[in-house]
Amino acid sequence: MQTFVSQSEKETEQFAESFAKTLKAGAVVAFEGDLGAGKTAFVRGLARGLNCKDSVSSPTFAIVNEYDGALPLFHFDMYRIETLGELYSVGFFEYLERGGVCAIEWSENIYSALPDDSVFVVIEKIDENTRKITVKEGKE
Ligand SMILES: Nc1ncnc2c1ncn2[C@@H]1O[C@H](COP(=O)(O)OP(=O)(O)OP(=O)(O)O)[C@@H](O)[C@H]1O
Ligand SMILES: [Mg+2]
Repeated sequence: MQTFVSQSEKETEQFAESFAKTLKAGAVVAFEGDLGAGKTAFVRGLARGLNCKDSVSSPTFAIVNEYDGALPLFHFDMYRIETLGELYSVGFFEYLERGGVCAIEWSENIYSALPDDSVFVVIEKIDENTRKITVKEGKE
């Protein structure tokens, strides 16, 4: 387990950028954190760390956005996912096999479908610009 206190969006992105270098093909990064915690900011840093060219936007309506990089990045937003059937419809289980990095916002909604070796990134809002970021390996 690793903890980092970020004082700005930029620091969160920089932390995520170096964290990205530790990820291997097939990695699943599962985010936990409220609205506006900084999950998408973290994914922007991941994309930079993986040398993705396109800029990251929130996939809320698409459910998943794909970015080409050193490893492909699959960015999910599970905010609206309520059933296992919906997860199958978006092809989630195929994405897990595609040798990329799956970054999953609102992973709480699909916890039972997450691989046991997912890396959990928990982002807590301390105040306006301060976030406590905890990285945990594997399901509890
Ligand atoms: N230390 C920080 N790290 C990350 N974001 C921060 C920080 N301090 C302030 N912010 C602000 O918090 C917001 C984070 O927004 P972001 O879209 O990344 O959140 P999110 O967790 O993805 O929310 P949502 O659940 O709506 O998708 C931004 O407006 C950002 O500027
Ligand atoms: Mg977001």
